[in-house]
Amino acid sequence: MEQVDISKLYLLVEDFFKNDTTGHDWWHVIRVTKLALQIGQKEGANLGMVEPAALVHDCDDWKLSAGEGYPNTIHILSNAGYRQKQIDEIIEIVKQVSFKGAGVDTTPSCIEAMVVQDADRIDAIGAIGIARAFAYGGSKNRPMYLPEVKPQLHQSFNEYKSSKSHTINHFYEKLLLLKDRLNTPTAQRIAKERHDFMVNYLEQFFNEWNFEQ
Ligand code: ADP
Ligand code: NI
Repeated sequence: MEQVDISKLYLLVEDFFKNDTTGHDWWHVIRVTKLALQIGQKEGANLGMVEPAALVHDCDDWKLSAGEGYPNTIHILSNAGYRQKQIDEIIEIVKQVSFKGAGVDTTPSCIEAMVVQDADRIDAIGAIGIARAFAYGGSKNRPMYLPEVKPQLHQSFNEYKSSKSHTINHFYEKLLLLKDRLNTPTAQRIAKERHDFMVNYLEQFFNEWNFEQ
């Protein structure tokens, strides 16, 4: 019987993201996996499930392939030696990870999904979260800030897509909300410093924007 080879899974996922054009990247996956392992260990989760789930969590983006199954995830996991039953369990975890808009409740049902979701959310805040937001906004040709467009909360991704937006708004509709959407106490502790950093960053941003001598 074929054996699971976790180092092969790392290589397969790295290879997959090398050619990615959707704004996700391998370093995000690595950071999330490391964070998920640290949080998972403190929270007593099954790391044998947390690690592969974190590695594949962005291989089938729900925004791109929602409802279409998980073709890339299945392909990669079976190449790394995972059996159908394990693949189904890992996909169950991955399904529960995404943030689907401020109005959508996405609380996971198992500790492994909670841990991977927390790790993914922590990588969206703090200094790295700020960098990712502006990189993403730039890739979509969004202006960094439009003072005439007041911060607004979008209740769904579709509503968001059709709106005129800017990257600073993304802080108000998602990034600043994440600290209160974390599942585990370990993640809440890690998030505090990163959240406070974003709040200070925004204050400084607006001070500079409205600079008067
Ligand atoms: P992930 O599941 O890895 O968080 P997303 O596709 O939701 O993936 O987002 C990728 C990154 O881009 C995240 O850091 C997220 O905060 C950022 N991002 C997503 N949508 C926007 C947006 N409209 N403006 C700025 N940044 C965004
Ligand atoms: Ni992610």
